[in-house]
Amino acid sequence: MTLFNKTREDFLEFFKKRGHKIVPSSSLIPDDPSVLLTTAGMQQFKKYYTGELNPQSDFGSNRTTTLQKCFRTSDIEEVGDDTHLTFFEMMGNFSFGPVGSDDPTDFSLSGYFKRSAIVWAYEFITNTLEISPERIYVTVFEGDNQTPTDKESYAIWKNEIGLSEDKIKSGKREDNFWGPTGVEGPCGPTTEIYVDNVEVWNLVFNEYYKTRINADEDNADQRGKYVKVKNPGIDTGMGFERLLVMLEGVKNVFETSAFSSIISEIKKSAVKSSEREVRILADHIRSSAFLIADGIRPSNKEAGYVLRRLLRRIIAIKIKNDIHSDVFQIGFEQVKNFFGKYYPELNNEKEILSVWNDEFEKFQESIAKGMKEVTKYQKITGKEAFYIYESFGLPYELILELAVPESIKDLNREDFENEYKKHQEISRAGIANKFGGHGLVLDTGELKAGSNEELARVIKMHTATHLLQWSLRKNIDLNIKQMGSDINPQRLRFDFNFDRKLTPEEIKTVELDINRVIQKDLPVYFKEMPKEEALLVGALSFFRQKYPDIVKIYFIGSETNGGIVSTEFCGGPHVNHTLEIGSFKITKEESVAKGIRRIRATIG
Ligand code: SER
Repeated sequence: MTLFNKTREDFLEFFKKRGHKIVPSSSLIPDDPSVLLTTAGMQQFKKYYTGELNPQSDFGSNRTTTLQKCFRTSDIEEVGDDTHLTFFEMMGNFSFGPVGSDDPTDFSLSGYFKRSAIVWAYEFITNTLEISPERIYVTVFEGDNQTPTDKESYAIWKNEIGLSEDKIKSGKREDNFWGPTGVEGPCGPTTEIYVDNVEVWNLVFNEYYKTRINADEDNADQRGKYVKVKNPGIDTGMGFERLLVMLEGVKNVFETSAFSSIISEIKKSAVKSSEREVRILADHIRSSAFLIADGIRPSNKEAGYVLRRLLRRIIAIKIKNDIHSDVFQIGFEQVKNFFGKYYPELNNEKEILSVWNDEFEKFQESIAKGMKEVTKYQKITGKEAFYIYESFGLPYELILELAVPESIKDLNREDFENEYKKHQEISRAGIANKFGGHGLVLDTGELKAGSNEELARVIKMHTATHLLQWSLRKNIDLNIKQMGSDINPQRLRFDFNFDRKLTPEEIKTVELDINRVIQKDLPVYFKEMPKEEALLVGALSFFRQKYPDIVKIYFIGSETNGGIVSTEFCGGPHVNHTLEIGSFKITKEESVAKGIRRIRATIG
């Protein structure tokens, strides 16, 4: 058995023996609308930490263990170096309260806490994996003004494990506190195990629950605070590929057995590619195959856009390096050989390859055009790079990859981002005095209201206005357009084109649908994107306003969880979740001019 297979199987067995139920990896599409993609093992268990679901009835134990498929979009641009990957697997063990005993010799099914978690982690690393204690040091949370020092973990490392003090380092919040993946959720201090100065295992002690910033007004004192939970939990994560680097004694993730065959197969076709390009191909083919296998399709929004970016980059490298063979298929065969046994969804080969082929056919041409454009420049600075980005949709790293090397000597990311920011500022200034056409009470781009309470109400009314427009179009007539909007803390007023009075039934339907969406507590969020892209996304733009090149689009709903409800060009601000609006009521429907109706409404 190779280390690739042995390590993953040993991990699950080790924790199974200690009362943990082996749970299959969840999909890369999370059922948690606060995150785009699954980034950690704990995500599928969030409701067991909060007590909404019962681990005993679902798993027969308060302890679980997994190898979880993960995807981190924040690492896309780092791929190609020795450590970063977009897709990776995370090994983890989890405990959900109440804590039965925290005795590491207790192999029962009850919840446990810091002592067992630390002793087992150390035992697995030093006994099962036979990593010598000399190679190890650990970090613990030093505490700050929000949550205190983790003295317990320090004492366990020192007294029970017997680490010398110089091997127990203290770390700040950014390294040793694991926050909620969304706006709220379970969280707590961490202790991290380093091997040869590389972090391999993160043990999170979920002692707190971070509350939502815009929590209900009734609980105003609990807004955005760390509240100690009754039943603390354990959430650990150890990156599988990174661990293999240590175990196999190689220099980087691409030399491990998880990657060596895909790399060598790609190299056979990509003869002109640099080492970095080969690594990018290997990573992106692997991660996009997993995304497609889980049901994501290329699009201009959310996870679909992430997939599109990966595929575009594969296409670009393929064109640039004259790779004539189907490098995606070649790479995918290896992914399937290695992972098909663990992830049967990868065996849907026909569908996975056809998604790739469709995207290739569609984008080959525009990428090729962009490539030509890029090579026309003798000198590309931040300004030109931003122009190319804006007009051809080529992300910065693609410009770097496609341009003539001499032309980008003076190009750096900072300048590019400054250009980007400049445009954002222009776009903000353009929108600021209009707030997307809604006549909010405002003052130099900032909302002005008599008090914080009034401000909060105006923001809620603003989101309610987006929902009203959506509901009118959905339930009455798709041709309805916003002709005017005015909002104050007492009411919202919305003018739209329609040529007759609405019936009481129609008003009821419009209202009901809005309240239904409010009750679903859908996320409300924005993205900034080039105007053309925004139009592709289908954003509504209803008012006579010249848009800047980079625009802000507000979404209500989740693409991966029940669908997007509303998409509008808008400067904001909005609530974070629809339930904050409370409820919605239409108070009046009247005519203001020929073909123009006016609705007045309020929120509860
Ligand atoms: N949630 C933590 C992490 O992702 C531990 O699993 O690192």
